[in-house]
Amino acid sequence: MVSNTNYEPTEISKSEGRVTGPAELTVVLPTYNESKNVPIVVELLDKALAGAAWEVIVVDDNSPDGTSKVTADIAQQDPRVRIVQRIGRRGLSGACIEGMLASSSKFVAVMDADLQHDESLLPKMLEALRSESYDICVASRHVEGGDVGTGLSSIRAWGSNLANNLARKFLKVELSDPMSGFFMLRRDRFVELAPRLSSQGFKIMLDIVASGKGALRVKELPFVFRERQHGESKLDTLVTMDYLGLLVSKIFDDKISVRFLMYSMVGGTGVVVHLIALKIFLAAFGMPFGLSQLVATFVAMSSNFFLNNRLTYRDRRLTGLAWIKGLLTFYVICSFGILANVGVAELIYTNKPIWWFAGAAGAVMGAVWNYVVSNALTWRKG
Ligand code: GDD
Ligand code: MN
Repeated sequence: MVSNTNYEPTEISKSEGRVTGPAELTVVLPTYNESKNVPIVVELLDKALAGAAWEVIVVDDNSPDGTSKVTADIAQQDPRVRIVQRIGRRGLSGACIEGMLASSSKFVAVMDADLQHDESLLPKMLEALRSESYDICVASRHVEGGDVGTGLSSIRAWGSNLANNLARKFLKVELSDPMSGFFMLRRDRFVELAPRLSSQGFKIMLDIVASGKGALRVKELPFVFRERQHGESKLDTLVTMDYLGLLVSKIFDDKISVRFLMYSMVGGTGVVVHLIALKIFLAAFGMPFGLSQLVATFVAMSSNFFLNNRLTYRDRRLTGLAWIKGLLTFYVICSFGILANVGVAELIYTNKPIWWFAGAAGAVMGAVWNYVVSNALTWRKG
């Protein structure tokens, strides 16, 4: 095999045709309910990477379909396969980061475990990185020879296009396919950037390239996005919000967390919901103003809770009884938030009677309070 690493060339065991010894490449497969796909992917990797020293790390978020168990069973037969089973956590980017950190290879790749990514591209990516001319190699559906195929619905394809243009404009990232979740990079570069990456969301590759601030040498290789065979996609349209959060957070140079931004965006929708509800109670139901305002406040709080639970805290999503408890704590926290808001606004206004400044300062104070406290109580970690 061609190898330019410093350690002794790894040996190929005669009996199985497998390369033993330290891996040069780690393929990270994030999984959620991919028990049918994992065995197939491992087999495909075995063929595609024959002769290379590789290993695979499956990072599974404790999938109910038993993906972890299936993987552990394969690992019993094949030492190149490892499993990281995460309990109580969800999220694609976080899973990829943990998988890459668990590797000690010179190169790490991230690939979907659902057969949509063409594993035959891996040797070409590896070749490009071994040449030492590139730091990261991205599989792109939009360079000559690549295609989104029929793997994406038209609405997703449209959204994907828009997202690409935003990334180019705001992050100055020159990638033909910034949404791609299929890439390989030098592990040392990844480790340097890891502290700046957001574990939330699903745009890990874009986050890596944007965090590199132009320092990473990028190679793009074309591939055709295949259709899913088993199981279903976990990325719904709400993940677009994750993306916008990442974009804004990067524009602010990571000074504001993606989570806080999403929380604030949800808060923004809450204002609109509040006004619409208020209008309905006043006009349609003819309720008195005070009561209308009170009920509208509850409608807006509930809508914020629902959206935050689906979006901002999708990785810690509350269900069942915990959902009801969460909603009640959220009401209490937000009520104190209103007090903080009004208190601060009044204090500022009495010192400096500029209505918009006092109003905005109060609103920010309320938002920060709500965020910090509901982050710690309502959507408490683990
Ligand atoms: N561990 C873990 N945790 N894995 C996850 C999670 C999660 O919360 N959510 C999804 N995955 C795994 C899936 O099991 C699959 O292996 C891979 O991540 C991709 O998830 P899909 O649900 O199949 O995503 P998709 O096909 O809709 O989106 C793909 O294409 C997009 C471009 O259109 C992904 O590659 C995206 O990253 C990519 O942007
Ligand atoms: Mn998929």
